[in-house]
Amino acid sequence: MDSLAAPYPTTNQKLIDWVEEMVALCKPDRVHWCSGSDEEWKRLTDRMVDAGTFIRLNPEKRPNSFLVRSDPNDVARVEDKTFICSTNKKDAGPTNNWADPREMKTKLTGLFDGCMRGREMHIVPFSMGPIGSPISQIGVEISDSAYVVLNMRIMTRMGQEVLDALGSDGDFVPCLHSVGQPLVDGRENVAWPCDPSNTYIAHFPEDRTIWSFGSGYGGNALLGKKCFALRIASVMARDEGWLAEHMLILGVEDPKGEKTYVAAAFPSACGKTNFAMMVPPEGFEGWKIWCVGDDIAWIKPGEDGKLYAINPEAGFFGVAPGTSYKTNQNAMDSLKANSIFTNVALTDDGDVWWEGMTDEEPEHLIDWLGNDWTPGCGRKSSHPNSRFTAPAAQCPVIDPAWEDPKGVPISAFLFGGRMSKNMPLVYQAFNWSHGVYSAATMGSEATAAAVGQAAMRRDPMAMIPFCGYNMADYFTHWLNVGRHLANPPRIFRVNWFRKDDQGNFIWPGFGQNMRVLRWVVDRVHGRTAPVESPVGWMPRYEDIDWSGLDFPSETYYELMAVDREAGTQEAHAHEELFDKFFDRLPKEFIYERELLRSRLWRSPDHWFLQAERQTD
Ligand code: OXD
Ligand code: MN
Repeated sequence: MDSLAAPYPTTNQKLIDWVEEMVALCKPDRVHWCSGSDEEWKRLTDRMVDAGTFIRLNPEKRPNSFLVRSDPNDVARVEDKTFICSTNKKDAGPTNNWADPREMKTKLTGLFDGCMRGREMHIVPFSMGPIGSPISQIGVEISDSAYVVLNMRIMTRMGQEVLDALGSDGDFVPCLHSVGQPLVDGRENVAWPCDPSNTYIAHFPEDRTIWSFGSGYGGNALLGKKCFALRIASVMARDEGWLAEHMLILGVEDPKGEKTYVAAAFPSACGKTNFAMMVPPEGFEGWKIWCVGDDIAWIKPGEDGKLYAINPEAGFFGVAPGTSYKTNQNAMDSLKANSIFTNVALTDDGDVWWEGMTDEEPEHLIDWLGNDWTPGCGRKSSHPNSRFTAPAAQCPVIDPAWEDPKGVPISAFLFGGRMSKNMPLVYQAFNWSHGVYSAATMGSEATAAAVGQAAMRRDPMAMIPFCGYNMADYFTHWLNVGRHLANPPRIFRVNWFRKDDQGNFIWPGFGQNMRVLRWVVDRVHGRTAPVESPVGWMPRYEDIDWSGLDFPSETYYELMAVDREAGTQEAHAHEELFDKFFDRLPKEFIYERELLRSRLWRSPDHWFLQAERQTD
């Protein structure tokens, strides 16, 4: 529906008032309420093709799909321009950029004033989670970017159905977005409008609103994702007793048909999408992995004392480079059609390509900047953060229950960073508070780290860029959630990235991670007894199912060893993280750290899994 004024496709007065206020502020030429219909999709995609923003891909190779090239200065989430604007600075905590909410609103009101002149304002009603689920939430994004509308159509449930579910008095999270390039003073539209020098991604946790200005890319602009589903939702979850987490959700089905759901947190760029839809390896015939989600989980306690999770998203916004039929065949099959590709290369036959997609490089491409590319030219064809946006329903292993409004019952949480030294392949936490401690002290090495000491970033629960409040309070919230559950999920730490002295990965990863997952499932159902190590409970060599893989026990023990000196240093480093939180840090963490230290203190220099292998 296009108009500047009534009649509106909703009777929700809060929404109408907000839209009227934003129209008066942003001064668009036209207002369009998104219905989510196919006709709307056709009109918007045709318009984007005519404007030169979208390149229609060869319909025989990639039906209903498009390539987009962003401005080279607008290619990723901008953490330094992301703000949590709580009234009290301490409520944002030491890991967030804070800005005074009144000052930020004044600044942004200035920037938004007239920012949509010459453009169309789109009103995008969306549901995070299946419409009508008690765990779902509704948001409305106002945006002057049709790219945002078309991505939101894949990433969320979007359109008139959501307005119908909202009704006349339902609540929603207002999300205001502009690329920040009004068409005034003779300015012509460009393929990717943005304003990198004035970019602000501002969150107002107390009034649960989001204002984003200047960027059209990914998490900066698709406000349902990181801004709402993590930063604002984490605040809602704290207030209401649930969890909004940076986690994939998968179901492990054994050959007898028993299904166990697991949620796992890994920092960005640690292979979450690959893990979420992994293909079990040779030797695991009859086992199946089902994907519920690849990035975000909303998790609520059920009446039976278990935690139930939904994937609030409806699509995958995955990193393209490295995705191939070898590394992730299910992701490749998900993006065969109806997908949007941003900042990848264009092939001569009108399809897309990126580094790692095939063993052999095409002879000629147009790269993400629009230039000719040939193998050996010394440049990457695709931006390292180039993305595909693909509907989750197209994933061949999407879980039959992925849209169940109740959510799926979670039996285990996995936490894992990228650690080349010292951190074992897997251990189970001794109990909930030890598990929360292990997750909170998680670290990950920068992927581009040079030789020598790899740069490590502490990334508690993989939530550092995404927690909308003080992380010390977030740790306390986690402790509380477990305390009130009759049947809390078991907590595990994993690390696929340990390297040997020559710098080679010791663990093959990808589908082989299924072996670790199988042990997790066995533990959850009490089918196997673990060994107590200084850091947690561990599987012996014989507790892991090695069918189909020749993996020597020597190498396994190397992968699981705990070095006393390094472990003690690591425990010491936890203190540096904790110091930032001062008196808000939960007391349990101080005790957990001391327990860890004393377990290490009493262990041999180099702790091996089997008693007879211990070096001391
Ligand atoms: C993502 C991220 O894009 O975590 O999912 O950065
Ligand atoms: Mn993510």
